[in-house]
Amino acid sequence: MILYYSASGNTEHIARILAKKLDDECLDLRERIRSHDYTEVCSQKPFVICAPVYVSEMPRFLRDYIKRLPFRGSREVYYVFTCGVKEGIAGALAETITVRKDMVYMGHTGIAMPSNYIVSNMFPAPTHDKCVQLIRDAEKKAEETAEIIKNGGRLVSYKVDPISKALTIPLNAFWSKFMQPTKKFFTTDKCVGCGKCSKVCPLNNIHMENKRPVWEAPCAHCMACISNCPTEAIEYSDITQKKEKYHISKYLDKTGG
Ligand SMILES: Cc1cc2nc3c(=O)[nH]c(=O)nc-3n(C[C@H](O)[C@H](O)[C@H](O)COP(=O)(O)O)c2cc1C
Repeated sequence: MILYYSASGNTEHIARILAKKLDDECLDLRERIRSHDYTEVCSQKPFVICAPVYVSEMPRFLRDYIKRLPFRGSREVYYVFTCGVKEGIAGALAETITVRKDMVYMGHTGIAMPSNYIVSNMFPAPTHDKCVQLIRDAEKKAEETAEIIKNGGRLVSYKVDPISKALTIPLNAFWSKFMQPTKKFFTTDKCVGCGKCSKVCPLNNIHMENKRPVWEAPCAHCMACISNCPTEAIEYSDITQKKEKYHISKYLDKTGG
């Protein structure tokens, strides 16, 4: 069974390629996370957890969900991370969670894709051509990954050194607490009050007031609201206005995906 969370479609796209190649079912965890639904998942085939990378690890809300979720059937778990550059320490932390669940960690892989983190000036959005190329390469890597999983092999990635791990864990805690404010989100006149942003928020933290979204804390800055807005009406501070709003669906027809 392939389980995934995806804000702007990258991870979903990879999860679906894996499901197709492995002839397995694909489960979107968004609604379950939103509604705190911990109904057990059952599969005789290995579990494959697909997640984006946030500040070098899997999203903390997803990590907490996986920790509590009961798994039945297969004891083997693979992880497939999509990231803008590198998966950081995501694999090392995933291994710890898996072992604590008394399951078998079958390794992880990181798949570079266009970065959806458009609310920071530190990370420039990739150009259109670069996005197309990244997605094409990612699709290839997903197919290779599926082949390894199909043959029962382990996914091998680089080894995380203890210093990076020791530095990243507090950085991530700091980032999650102080660097993801919601007060800078706003909507422009393009907002039609459809409420989609509220429905896609994995933390259920956006509510509608007078047909306009209101963001509450905590926010994971996952970009689901910005990426999925049908009229591209959501902006963040003065950072996003000149940036292309990223969602993979804008590129799929151009990659044959
Ligand atoms: C809050 C946040 C933090 C991110 N941090 C990293 C990171 O540390 N390293 C990295 O390579 N990509 C990072 N990214 C980029 C995403 O991991 C990448 O674009 C991913 O494919 C998005 O997946 P999705 O479209 O399924 O949501 C970050 C994105 C977000 C939203």
